[in-house]
Amino acid sequence: MLKPADRIATLRPYFFAELAKRISVLRAKGVDVVRLDIGSPDLPPPGFILEAMFESASRTDTHGYTLGQTQGFRNTVAAYYQKRFGVELDPKTEVVDLIGSKEGLFILSQVLLNPGDISLVPDPSYSVYAKSAEIAGAQVHWMPLLEKNHFLPDLQTIPSDMLKKAKILWLNYPNNPTGAIADLAFFEQVVAFARQHELLIAHDSPYCEVGFNGYRAPSLLQVPGAKEVAIEFNSVSKSYNMAGWRVGMAVGHPEAVRLIETYKSQQDSAIFAPLMAAAEAAMLGDQSWLNERNRVYQARRDAVIDELHRGGLRVAPPQATFYIWVPLPDKANSLEFCARMLEECGVSTTPGVVFGKHGEGYFRISLVADIERLREGAKRLADWVQKAAIRN
Ligand SMILES: Cc1ncc(COP(=O)(O)O)c(C=O)c1O
Repeated sequence: MLKPADRIATLRPYFFAELAKRISVLRAKGVDVVRLDIGSPDLPPPGFILEAMFESASRTDTHGYTLGQTQGFRNTVAAYYQKRFGVELDPKTEVVDLIGSKEGLFILSQVLLNPGDISLVPDPSYSVYAKSAEIAGAQVHWMPLLEKNHFLPDLQTIPSDMLKKAKILWLNYPNNPTGAIADLAFFEQVVAFARQHELLIAHDSPYCEVGFNGYRAPSLLQVPGAKEVAIEFNSVSKSYNMAGWRVGMAVGHPEAVRLIETYKSQQDSAIFAPLMAAAEAAMLGDQSWLNERNRVYQARRDAVIDELHRGGLRVAPPQATFYIWVPLPDKANSLEFCARMLEECGVSTTPGVVFGKHGEGYFRISLVADIERLREGAKRLADWVQKAAIRN
C-alpha cells in the first residue's frame, strides 16, 4: 500500500471539495440547491480588464514561462499600494507575485516554521493559516475571535510560553468568516506587540476593496515602520471579481518576501503574462466600477438580512466582505444544522466550526449569487428555521 508522508498523514480533503460532492448528489436527485457557501465572486470583471488580457494573449511573445520576468507586475503592485494606501514599497525587494494569495499563505509557513515553533492563528479563520503550519511540522496556538471583542484577537491573553516559541501572528481584515473590520489604531497595537515579541505579522487582506457605505479598509502597512515586522497578502480575486484567475501578491518585510520568492521558484513557474496584464489593468485602471459592484453586494446583504430577521435570526450587518456570520438559534451544532438545512430546504451554507472551534455556534452565508436567488435561499432558510422553532 502507498504510505503517505507523516506530515500529511492526517490531512483531510478541503471542506468545500466534499461539500460540492454532496451537492451534486442532491442535484442529481432533482433538488434545486441554493449555494450560499463558498466565497467565489459570481460577477465578472469589467470589459477593460478582459481586453487587457485578450490584447496580451494575442501577442506572440506572451506565451512562455514568466519566471524571473514579473518585475513589471511588481512595479504595478507597488504603484497600487502607493495610490490606494499611500504605502511606499520597493518593487525590487518588497513585492512578490503569487499564483493567488493562497499560494503565499501556504509558503510563508514552509519558509519560517520549524517543528516546535508556534504559529498564532485566529479562531475562526481561513483554514490555510493553520494547515500550512501543521504541514510544516509546527504547532498552532489559537487566538479566539469573540463577538464581545468585535472579532479582534485579545493579544494580552496569549500565554508567555507560547509567545516565546511563536514566529508568525496571522491576521485577516476585513475578516473571513466574521465580516469584521479592524482600524489603524488596532494595527498600531499589533505592530508594537510584534516588535516587543519578535513576531512576523502576516496580514491577509484580500477583501480590502469590498466595503459598504463608503467604508475603505486600511492596509496594515500604513502603520509607520510596519514593513519591519509585517508582510501583507493581497490579490485581485475578491477585489476585482477575478478569483479564478489566480493572481496575488505579498508585500512588505523584504526578508519574508525574498524567502517566499526563493521557495516558490522551486515550486511553480509564475503567472501567465496575459493574466498579469489584466491584473495590472485592474489595479491601475478605473476604480469607479467598484462602487457599483459594492452597492450590488450591499443590496444583497440587506435583502438576506431582512429575511433572516423575519426568521428570528439575530444578525449584525457587516461593513465589509461578502459574508454574513449568523449566530445559530439555541446554540445548535453548526455541522448538523447546516447538513439538515441542506437536506431539508436545499440551502447550502458553511458551518462555523469549519473555520475553527470558536466558529461553533455560527454559520456563514456568502453573498455571491444573484439577489433573487439569494432572497429565495434566505426565505427558504427563514421559513425552515421558523418551522423548526415551532416544532421544538
Ligand atoms: C481570508 C482569505 N484569504 C485568502 C483567500 C485566497 O484568495 P486567493 O484567491 O487570492 O488565493 C481567501 C479565499 O477565499 C480568503 O477568504
